[in-house]
Amino acid sequence: MMLPTPCFRRPVLRAALLLSLAGLLGGCGKSPAPAGSAPAVKIGFFVKQPEEPWFQLEWKFAEQAARDHGFTLIKTGANDGEKALAAIDAFAAAGAQGFVICTPDTKLGPAIVNKAKAAGLKLLTVDDQFLGADGQPLKNVHYLGISARKIGETVGDLLAAEMKRRGFNPADTAVCAVTFDELATAKERTDGATARLQAAGIPADRIFRAPMRTPDIPGSLEAVSTLLTRQPGIKHWLVCGTNDNAVLGGIRALEGRNFAPESSVGIGINGTDCIVELEKAKPTSFHGSILLSAKDHGYKTAEMLYRWIKDGVEPPLDTRTVGTFITRENFRQVLKEQGIRE
Ligand code: GLA
Repeated sequence: MMLPTPCFRRPVLRAALLLSLAGLLGGCGKSPAPAGSAPAVKIGFFVKQPEEPWFQLEWKFAEQAARDHGFTLIKTGANDGEKALAAIDAFAAAGAQGFVICTPDTKLGPAIVNKAKAAGLKLLTVDDQFLGADGQPLKNVHYLGISARKIGETVGDLLAAEMKRRGFNPADTAVCAVTFDELATAKERTDGATARLQAAGIPADRIFRAPMRTPDIPGSLEAVSTLLTRQPGIKHWLVCGTNDNAVLGGIRALEGRNFAPESSVGIGINGTDCIVELEKAKPTSFHGSILLSAKDHGYKTAEMLYRWIKDGVEPPLDTRTVGTFITRENFRQVLKEQGIRE
């Protein structure tokens, strides 16, 4: 079941909508609960950027959990705080008992918690941890997210190794960190990567930050283009960022300045939003990515909430997931193993 959301033009989203409606009408193939028995479980799943493959995969795996356990999933999303709050009312009106959310704005955390409480809905946060009024994480709200600092550090180590392998002259090499510090998990990733690159010998004054105004490819393209204009002397760029799209925007900016593919290296995070890039016949400067577990973030969160609603089993307050390095060499195999590609 999918609540109305703006601008779902992509085929995969249309397909998701049809599937959801089929689930609603058909109750996922289950007959209605007999009178007197517990009401059928319904779970909402709100994501902040429904156009991103990462979030579409979270939904896909949550759908799988719904099929396996026989609950109804109500999917909706928008990069808009008002819509996130309105979705909570819509979940309650649709008869849901709880919802998973990746909020468009982590500062909305207390408002979302209050609304969920008022509507009697259980709540599990995924990807982006809520912040309280003091700017600190709301640690009493159940959360599943990545080990952001550690994954960022891995990206830094891999970029340093790649610099050495390609024989880049350190004197002509610099780091471009495509940042989005408004989001704690994003900041931890780029802070982790840049700390390791500095530890690997890149001087602090050659580690440049390209802050994105919007966390997407256009936002990164703009930020990195500005950096390249300011730093015309660099021959080799090592690009890290908050996720695949942040790094892809940086790679597109380098191409716009005629950097040869082998002259620079970018490593992303997500591993789901760079598949088309890795499939390109000719390699680009996008070397690889840390593939996160969309299955844990989609299936496991929905399942934990289901068990909480149905059996009263409260999920752990804080669950962290890890990633796997993928490159052009191994991505097909790893994506297959993880159930992302056939
Ligand atoms: C954030 C990012 C997403 C993805 C998730 C993973 O929400 O915006 O692209 O990396 O974290 O938890």
